[in-house]
Amino acid sequence: MSGPAQRSAPSPVVSQTGARVERQPLSRYTTLGVGGEAQVWTVADHAQLAEAMSAPYRILGGGSNLVVADGGLSERVIRLGGQFAATDLTPDPALSTPEQLVTGWVGGGVPLPGLLRRLQRLGYSNLEGTVGIPAQLGGAIWMNAGTRFGEAFDGLHSLEIASPEGTRTVTPFDLPWGYRDSGIPRNHIVTRARLKLRRSSPEAVQERMDAADLARKGQPKNRTPGCAFKNPTLPNGDRPGGQRLSAGKLFDEAGLKGSRVGHAMIAPEHANFIVNLGGASAADVHALLDLMRERVGVPLELEYELWP
Ligand code: FAD
Ligand code: EPU
Repeated sequence: MSGPAQRSAPSPVVSQTGARVERQPLSRYTTLGVGGEAQVWTVADHAQLAEAMSAPYRILGGGSNLVVADGGLSERVIRLGGQFAATDLTPDPALSTPEQLVTGWVGGGVPLPGLLRRLQRLGYSNLEGTVGIPAQLGGAIWMNAGTRFGEAFDGLHSLEIASPEGTRTVTPFDLPWGYRDSGIPRNHIVTRARLKLRRSSPEAVQERMDAADLARKGQPKNRTPGCAFKNPTLPNGDRPGGQRLSAGKLFDEAGLKGSRVGHAMIAPEHANFIVNLGGASAADVHALLDLMRERVGVPLELEYELWP
């Protein structure tokens, strides 16, 4: 194989189709602040994305759910820029009514917090339950990020998904989505989405955002990838209807708050968060994840994405 993208150059190079290619430490892109180097491809359009997907790759969003290995990655890491970071909130007249609206396309690389601020100012409702999640829209959709006030799939009309096999448009009805899961295969890239929103008022949307925000008051402020494990359901009869237990409460009851390995710690504020005290390694985080699994007698599903 040849071409500029294969070199481990310290400064950025431009690929055949114009993607920016640069070897960078992924700690720069993760909210945990951990991760070794990889070749990062920043793509602005479908031609650049197709070229980036022509060799083994991973797709990076806001880096807010990732624990990247200290030794870095051999695969390319794709970041969405250009047209995949553009926002068109203009209601589509053919699909909108006085109560509901469907927007134009919003890029998968658009940061969710800024998008929610814009929706609040317009008085557009349905996604405010996801306030405080430091994701990009594509990452939030890929794992159906949410809180008990709402989730990404509450406000989706349709999605464009790209993979090496091509690009397709689907609706939520085509996907087996659920709690923290979109049903979209790994490495199929959410390039953009159209939002399905309810017309409300800026004040009403803000009020609901404030309620969702309040539930986060007890979450840690240090660098973290959020909750480590998904909340488990219990098979026994006293919690019917698939209700979920707080994994954080289980870790708390197991006495794990404040447990440390190296420079990583189980947050004293909320026991399902692992925080970086400064200088933590991925190995420190992995050791804490093992400890958490060991100490709780319920099968747990990891929420963090471990790269590789
Ligand atoms: P990344 O972390 O970059 O990637 C996560 C996964 O998504 C990877 O597999 C990646 O390949 C994939 N991915 C990213 N972008 C795309 C794309 N465009 N197309 C396809 N796949 C993609 N999560 C919640 O659900 N609820 C919360 O309340 C919550 N609170 C948090 C609070 C804090 C302080 C932090 C740091 C995290 C929190 N999280 C929460 C976790 C995290 O924000 C979510 O998991 C979020 O959905 C991750 O999105 P991202 O864009 O950062 O993705
Ligand atoms: N609790 C404890 N100790 C703890 C943590 C929680 O006793 O260490 C108790 C709380 O006091 C409360 C209950 O457990 O009575 C539930 O706690 P919380 O409201 O914090 O909710 P959670 O179920 O622990 C979930 C999500 C969070 C989301 C919050 C707010 C999961 C895995 N976690 O946490 O999402 O922000 O609700 O809606 O679903 C994430 O997914 O990364 C995440 C941060």
